[in-house]
Amino acid sequence: MPSHVHVIRHPFVQRDVTILRDRRTSSPLFRSVLRRTATLMAYEVTKDLPVRRLPVRTPLEKTEGTAVKPAIVLVPILRAGLGMVGGFVEVIPDARVGHIGLYRDEETLQPVDYYFKVPKHLGKAFVIVLDPMLATGGSAAAAITFLKGKGARSIRFVSVVAAPHGVRTLRKAHPDVEIYTCALDRTLNDHGYILPGLGDAGDRIFGTE
Ligand code: PRP
Ligand code: URA
Repeated sequence: MPSHVHVIRHPFVQRDVTILRDRRTSSPLFRSVLRRTATLMAYEVTKDLPVRRLPVRTPLEKTEGTAVKPAIVLVPILRAGLGMVGGFVEVIPDARVGHIGLYRDEETLQPVDYYFKVPKHLGKAFVIVLDPMLATGGSAAAAITFLKGKGARSIRFVSVVAAPHGVRTLRKAHPDVEIYTCALDRTLNDHGYILPGLGDAGDRIFGTE
């Protein structure tokens, strides 16, 4: 496993990935399990964030507490990344949220952009890009290129399922970006879908199949 790829093997995360993979899982259940998976992932993705100590007064006495140093910016790639925002916000309620709209052209598999809106001062923030699927890696690489163009320097990419092809593409385009995922799957099919994967994440979240 390359050192820049972190596979989260916690039993409850893996249980949830199994539910997400299951073709019988309904759209409402898919949505809620994806959100829970994102909550669990948020702990892992942020566990080495820099902190500072600060005084806190309990009802009984003074002691020392902890604050997280960097501002956090979450950036879901539309549409499917939206399904992970709620889970991350559960853990990081003061996160700001940007949005990047991209879809894959069905023929060329190249990402087509249609929306960008991100908070200011990205250079000082810890940016977490969310998209459940890392397939060819084209969407993730394009989103991160855009964020760097807006000044982002410290970036992590979070997917639920990743294909080796996507990991390689993202590594080549952005060697500084750490990848977090729950599963490193076998391959892609001829249409760029991850095998075994979980199907079309956006369609399963939003019931547009
Ligand atoms: C999916 C997924 C990623 C992208 C991954 O989005 O959510 O953004 O494909 O594929 P890649 O690694 O090959 O670029 P899709 O294009 O289906 O758009 P949608 O979320 O709006 O359905
Ligand atoms: N996008 C998806 O939603 N699923 C895949 O398997 C590949 C790209």
